[in-house]
Amino acid sequence: MAIDTKETMLLARQHETVIPAFNVPHLPMLKPIVQAIVDENSVAMVEVARVEWEKFCAQSLEAVAEEYRKYADGKHTMLHLDHVPVVDEDYKEVDYLPIIDRAIKAGFGSVMVDASRLSFGENAAATKKVADKAHAAGIPCEAELGAVMGHESGQMMPYEEIFATKTGFTDLAEAKQFVEKSGCDWLSVAVGNIHGAIADATRDQKKPTARLDVDHIAALHQATGIPLVLHGGSGIDPEYIRAGIKAGITKINVGTEVRQAYEAAMKASGDDIEAGRKAVYEAVRALLSDTLRISGTRALLFGE
Ligand code: 13P
Repeated sequence: MAIDTKETMLLARQHETVIPAFNVPHLPMLKPIVQAIVDENSVAMVEVARVEWEKFCAQSLEAVAEEYRKYADGKHTMLHLDHVPVVDEDYKEVDYLPIIDRAIKAGFGSVMVDASRLSFGENAAATKKVADKAHAAGIPCEAELGAVMGHESGQMMPYEEIFATKTGFTDLAEAKQFVEKSGCDWLSVAVGNIHGAIADATRDQKKPTARLDVDHIAALHQATGIPLVLHGGSGIDPEYIRAGIKAGITKINVGTEVRQAYEAAMKASGDDIEAGRKAVYEAVRALLSDTLRISGTRALLFGE
């Protein structure tokens, strides 16, 4: 039987392990991502964000769902809709509710709404609309509070300055209130993590190595009582990731690292899709086994 997304996240929390979610900005990446997850006997999500069909080559959420159905393995993989912004990275308003409806229709097992560029009250209100829709369809909803920077096209504050000044960090008291008001099931938090760049000029650059405020993660988990999500999973010091997982991180989103491996292999091979897929497969296996050390989570969570 296919695994249930909400239950799997709660089980992962109980076992202090993590469910990675791999982004699919290019459709051919999906097959090797699934294969690597299965071969590591892990449990993970495949996800696509609006920006990946708007500014990369994922085409549409329906195209990703169709590709997912071709290769999915229901004992190991789940399909998640990542960042549907209410105000996007170019500060444009997005008609977000119809996108959520389309995802539910296309069979996504969970969805994320990102209203983190709005005020606290507006964020909670928009998230509630999406959470209500998701729950009516029987699926969980992820939301974001605080500012995980990096997607915006302008110049970002130097990383060390973000960390030192805790700029954009999720506020503890707000987090508790936000979860109660919005009804979200999982919360994406800003705790030292940043997104890889997506603007044309910077998307090929190496991300600065990020750290995490592990005590703040523990406090946020204690205050909210729900699984926390770490966005910007590429290029974080692995020691911090593993400590963050113990402290309350239950889902980690990984985009840039795997995308750059695919794009580099495509470039080097003159657009040979199989070479691109091989690079993705190797990158995802290394992430699961070496960085996250979560080979075998299928057995840990489900006893097989
Ligand atoms: P990175 O691209 O930095 O790995 O972040 C991915 C992400 O958070 C997608 O939501």
